Amino acid sequence: MPRELAIEATGLVKAFGATRAVDGVDLAVPAGAVYGVLGPNGAGKTTTIRMLATLLRPDAGSACVLGHDVVGEADAVRGAISLTGQLASVDEELTGRENLVLIARLLGLGRAAARARADELLEAFGISGAAGRLVKNYSGGMRRRLDIAASLVVTPPLLFLDEPTTGLDPRSRTQVWEIARALVAEGTTILLCTQYLEEADQLADGLVVIDRGRVIAEGTPGQLRSSAGSGSLHVRLIDPEQRPEAARGLEQAVGPVVLEPDGAALSAACEDAARAAAGVAELARAGVALADFSLGRPSLDEVFLALTGHLAADAAPVPEEQPS
Ligand SMILES: Nc1ncnc2c1ncn2[C@@H]1O[C@H](COP(=O)(O)OP(=O)(O)O)[C@@H](O)[C@H]1O
Ligand SMILES: [Mg+2]
Repeated sequence: MPRELAIEATGLVKAFGATRAVDGVDLAVPAGAVYGVLGPNGAGKTTTIRMLATLLRPDAGSACVLGHDVVGEADAVRGAISLTGQLASVDEELTGRENLVLIARLLGLGRAAARARADELLEAFGISGAAGRLVKNYSGGMRRRLDIAASLVVTPPLLFLDEPTTGLDPRSRTQVWEIARALVAEGTTILLCTQYLEEADQLADGLVVIDRGRVIAEGTPGQLRSSAGSGSLHVRLIDPEQRPEAARGLEQAVGPVVLEPDGAALSAACEDAARAAAGVAELARAGVALADFSLGRPSLDEVFLALTGHLAADAAPVPEEQPS
């Protein structure tokens, strides 16, 4: 028996001039869980979310969000969703508490109820201590948590999280993940766009991988990882200049090598420790100095390479400045 769908999209297309940002995306997002949209920068994640949130009109295709058509019943969709960072706008010149109270008042809560809800959220998000501080003085992590809190003044049945942890330190990232889990436990469905396989692993029950505006894979995070093999040798060099040499050595001793976005890192699919040890020994013999190495699970880049034959970083040219 299939679960109820919170989002059902068929053949969504959106072009900006010659760029087909979204090029025929189908989505079936079950209610009551976190569903991931995983893809590199420029893959079309934000454009997809903006269409589902009725902020952009699709050029083709259709989508139903919580039972309402995003074009024909846009008002009903808007009333039911929350989009962090876009619909809920936080004012930098107000304190954290003032922002939440203001939004609660705008949403129709009485004065006392608005204050109570604001305090509850500040507490839940670990920002009570900074409640009276102006938002412009918040750290990135606190600001992100306040953004999410602002979109949850009234717990939405569906929440869009667009790269909620990009640029956050590991501790703030973990806190955002905890918040997302708490919301799902209360019945919220989350559509999570992310560039991190790790994040999808932590949160998503199911996901699609998108590349150049198209869905290229669908499954659980575990299934995606296994498409890139079960293990991987990750190596970080002290001197990034030695990477070509390191790549040659690893290619020889272990197998095909992926150059990670971090200019000093590379990895190679590798199932067993003896092979990994041989790879590390080969690098030592070649005089390549290592900052770090580990045998772990495949990275997003390795998954990408396995799925598409190219690296996430080459997926799409990302213009510096978007034409207006
Ligand atoms: N408003 C816009 N005008 C022109 N091009 C855009 C606009 N929004 C997005 N794009 C382009 O569409 C593609 C997909 O962008 P986006 O949906 O933001 O990707 P992602 O969120 O996965 O990084 C990119 O090539 C991007 O430059
Ligand atoms: Mg985006």
